Amino acid sequence: MSTVIVAPSLLSADFSDFAGAVREIDASLAPWAHLDVMDGRFVPNLTFGPKLVEDLRPLTGAFFDVHLMTEAPESLIPLFAASGADQISFHIEAVVHAHRILERIKELGKKAGISLVPSTPVSALGELLPFVDYVLVMTVNPGFGGQTLIPRCLDKVRLLAKLREEGGYAYRIGADGGVNPETAAAVRAAGTDVLVAGSAFFRTQDKKGLVRVLSGA
Ligand code: DX5
Ligand code: ZN
Repeated sequence: MSTVIVAPSLLSADFSDFAGAVREIDASLAPWAHLDVMDGRFVPNLTFGPKLVEDLRPLTGAFFDVHLMTEAPESLIPLFAASGADQISFHIEAVVHAHRILERIKELGKKAGISLVPSTPVSALGELLPFVDYVLVMTVNPGFGGQTLIPRCLDKVRLLAKLREEGGYAYRIGADGGVNPETAAAVRAAGTDVLVAGSAFFRTQDKKGLVRVLSGA
């Protein structure tokens, strides 16, 4: 894969000013914005729904990377697709018919991603790898920003990169949780294509400099 993509997560933004947060992402030159959707059931926290994505859509050309941490994601996918998401990822742990859902996302004209929590092995995705555009490896237990990266999860990134090579697949690999200037080099070295960063991004003044550091440029 080419250059590493940095995807700032709005989870750590000031929720009273999402428009300002998106402007900060644009100014940082990060090409993606990561939108964490939590339902208070799949994870013990709540965030926002498709209306936010719809309202932010005209403000930026950033690639909208929607991460559904919800039960029954299939019922939400059409709403997020209509709201202007570019890519929609859901959790393998939340569904039975993952293949059908991936195909549905693609029918709606969006990139289709699957995510896995730290306790789920890559083998759970084995049958899906030919069909996904994106595999989002959670490097913390999902639900909150500002947690510490679990180094063992990077073994899954390494394995996914190897399987992609062997199988001739095309998916990108993302890492989500605990990515900051201290951990980024190890995350990139594992073979990660997309670095999601929430708290590191919004707590840093020099966001452009941070994006450069995280991307390894
Ligand atoms: C966690 C979310 C992440 C979160 C990462 O459940 O999926 O996207 O924003 O936050 P940091 O970068 O602070 O670990
Ligand atoms: Zn996320």
